[in-house]
Amino acid sequence: MEQRVDQTHHHSEFTLRMITLLLGGLLAAVYFLLRVTILKLPRCKSDAKLHGKTVVITGASSGIGKETAMDLARRGARVILACRDRERAEAAIQEIIQETGNQQVLFMQLDLASLLSVRTFAENLLQSESRLDLLINNAGVLSDGQTDDGFGMMFGVNHLGHFLLTVLLLDRLKTSRPSRVVTVASNSYRWSKLDFSILLDHRDSAVGSNYSQIYRKYCNSKLCNILFTCELSRRLQGTNVTCYSLHPGQVTAANQLGVLLYLYSVLLQMF
Ligand SMILES: *[C@@H]1O[C@H](CO)[C@@H](O)[C@H](O)[C@H]1NC(C)=O
Ligand SMILES: *[C@@H]1O[C@H](CO)[C@@H](O)[C@H](O)[C@H]1NC(C)=O
Repeated sequence: MEQRVDQTHHHSEFTLRMITLLLGGLLAAVYFLLRVTILKLPRCKSDAKLHGKTVVITGASSGIGKETAMDLARRGARVILACRDRERAEAAIQEIIQETGNQQVLFMQLDLASLLSVRTFAENLLQSESRLDLLINNAGVLSDGQTDDGFGMMFGVNHLGHFLLTVLLLDRLKTSRPSRVVTVASNSYRWSKLDFSILLDHRDSAVGSNYSQIYRKYCNSKLCNILFTCELSRRLQGTNVTCYSLHPGQVTAANQLGVLLYLYSVLLQMF
């Protein structure tokens, strides 16, 4: 008898979870449908040309980064794709050159999960490029783990790697003024809860490795992007190097899976 009660209990819990899952899926589907129909996003109407300008963009072999590189190439800029994977970057470059006719699109190896790689990249760039007009800190990861230097992956790649990259390229940005540093953040910073004391002993921006903690680390790294931009902007006042951070809007990117998993885990916690 007891066992049956237990089974029934398990059974109803399972049903409840399935209903939650379906409900979550349904909500997500309705949201995406609205997004592509009624809530159509505005388009950039600027016809600015960028001939003679040099741009570095990190993580440009797919997603927002690739689209941005495409647009900048179309406007005539010399575009350097700073990516980890040469093959994927070269494929993106072929596509960009074909679509835009701009031959000044090139690859330079950069792995933001290694501070050594960031330094090597900066050295190479300073040697081969006489100017830098626009640095776009775009690359972002949503995954747990550690960087080569033992920092949390998201804190290390999304924030620290870009921090060092920007600092190393700052003089070149200054001599190319007016120039810009654009850091792609996210409005998910609103869910961040940055504990600076954890940074000291854990070299990461949060502890724990369940979905909600992993997503929190992502949000924290995005808050770091914004705080970095604010402080950099303050320090560069009057230099004509201007700094921006932004929320890219809703895009079809791999990190949405993480967001959905997070929302799902939150939903499950309600039972
Ligand atoms: C995730 O981990 C954190 C800290 O380790 C904990 O406070 C939280 O309750 C956990 N959430 C779930 C869903 O297990
Ligand atoms: C910044 O730009 C303005 C407007 O072009 C110019 O007048 C000023 O001299 C520049 N300042 C520096 C430090 O380059």
